[in-house]
Amino acid sequence: MHNIKNICCIGAGYVGGPTMAVIAQKNPDIKVTVVDINEARIAAWNDADLDKLPIYEPGLDKVVAEARNRNLFFSTAVDEAIEAADMVFISVNTPTKTYGKGKGMAADLKYIELCARQIARVAKTDKIIVEKSTLPVRTAQAIKSILHNTGNGVKFQILSNPEFLAEGTAVQDLMAPDRVLIGGEQTEDGLNAIQALVDIYATWVPNENILTTNLWSSELSKLTANAFLAQRVSSINALSELCEVTGADVNEVAIAIGKDSRIGPKFLKASVGFGGSCFQKDILNLVYIAKSYGLNEVADYWEQVIIMNDYQKRRFAAKIIQTLYNTISGKKIAFLGWAFKKDTNDTRESAAIYVADQLLEEQANIVVYDPKVNAHQMQSDLNYLNTRSEEDNNQYLTTVSNPHQACKDSHAIAVLTEWDEFKTYDWQRIYEEMQKPAFVFDGRGILDKEKLETIGFQVYVIGK
Ligand code: NAD
Ligand code: UGA
Repeated sequence: MHNIKNICCIGAGYVGGPTMAVIAQKNPDIKVTVVDINEARIAAWNDADLDKLPIYEPGLDKVVAEARNRNLFFSTAVDEAIEAADMVFISVNTPTKTYGKGKGMAADLKYIELCARQIARVAKTDKIIVEKSTLPVRTAQAIKSILHNTGNGVKFQILSNPEFLAEGTAVQDLMAPDRVLIGGEQTEDGLNAIQALVDIYATWVPNENILTTNLWSSELSKLTANAFLAQRVSSINALSELCEVTGADVNEVAIAIGKDSRIGPKFLKASVGFGGSCFQKDILNLVYIAKSYGLNEVADYWEQVIIMNDYQKRRFAAKIIQTLYNTISGKKIAFLGWAFKKDTNDTRESAAIYVADQLLEEQANIVVYDPKVNAHQMQSDLNYLNTRSEEDNNQYLTTVSNPHQACKDSHAIAVLTEWDEFKTYDWQRIYEEMQKPAFVFDGRGILDKEKLETIGFQVYVIGK
């Protein structure tokens, strides 16, 4: 049996940071060290000013304040932390490959393999290795083969423990998860390792919410969960266009179908398209895996979720262009929101990036206000697409720190993120300060359409 006293987590990102903060808070007797090669990120995690944590998540500052420097540590000393640990979580990024075989589809596992090799090189005592990153099914096999060929006699058990938190609600999700999933080898040593991790979660998660499975079921369940969630968004988004042409209201349809307990009400909010670092990446990965086993119909089925999502983003941009008399060259268009959802500063794969890119192609002047995203991040998101020069992106998309400044003198406002504060603005004042006719394109369905129309706005809402 294992008695875990020392945990190391490799990767201090959106998953590693919050997850380990909660594990440390709930297990004060276990020393938890989160390590990363990114020095700036570690410095930010250690900043005395909790507003400077590298990740914005409601409630995270309190958890970090309680556990940090008690039993929670952030460090760049990766080797030392691995060597001292009984259990090592791997929580590094697994982006879509941008080169070689599987380019644009498969998960890039180079960071995972580097971690495995580093653990193999450094470890002098037996360890449990936990896959926290989202990985293709059967990755544990590759990790195992690297770790078991060191020849130094150290024994490893590999577990899969995918993370299901959503950004913006990470702390809440970690405190009361729908389930914790732990997969491991169905051998005596494997089952002991599973139990060691169950014991850590059991300090705050009810036993019936801790599921244990074999390794492959656990790995595949993570990709499947994200695919099902994204599929719901694409399904309702597909219907949003049908609502627009038939006079149905997508919100009313969502409520009507969601009342069926077999369907359920969640994840039926029509939008400008899902973003975030994982949905697209994980579905593409699923499609790639299916194709690699020759399951072409399975691959095509899931790929459609992405195709629909890309279409939804393009459709929203096209609606803006068409409504503004098919010419937006030189027109100021205000963006409210850049993050991929509210309550996060994360912009990865945000729909705003793609909508902006399309409008910039038509020579619009975009001015963005987002409560948590800075100008540098927006520029780097756009530059990453490589559609035009960095100078042009910088000139035609600007960032302001005040929503009124963004909207003043604009021809149109586009709502790209569902930040709550957008609902409470003085829309009368905004109207008075805009060019007329004043257009609002609500890509999140959060504003009061009738109220805005009474003020004088011309309003387009997804799915209405
Ligand atoms: P992230 O990019 O925010 O963080 C990953 C961190 O790992 C980075 O800071 C990077 O510097 C570090 N890193 C990479 N290689 C390293 C190495 N060899 N040694 C030390 N540090 C290293 O990524 P994330 O959003 O935290 O996602 C991590 C994994 O969790 C991914 O597989 C993702 O699919 C999965 N996941 C993410 C979320 C989410 O909401 N973001 C939710 C569930 C699962
Ligand atoms: C998602 C899953 O919800 C998590 O369970 C999972 O752990 C995580 O991916 C991951 O693996 O990274 P996240 O991407 O943080 O979490 O946020 P979601 O709340 O799922 O939203 C994803 C995108 O879908 C956002 O752009 C959101 O605005 C959009 N969305 C969501 C809709 O457009 N409509 C909805 O009804 C729900």
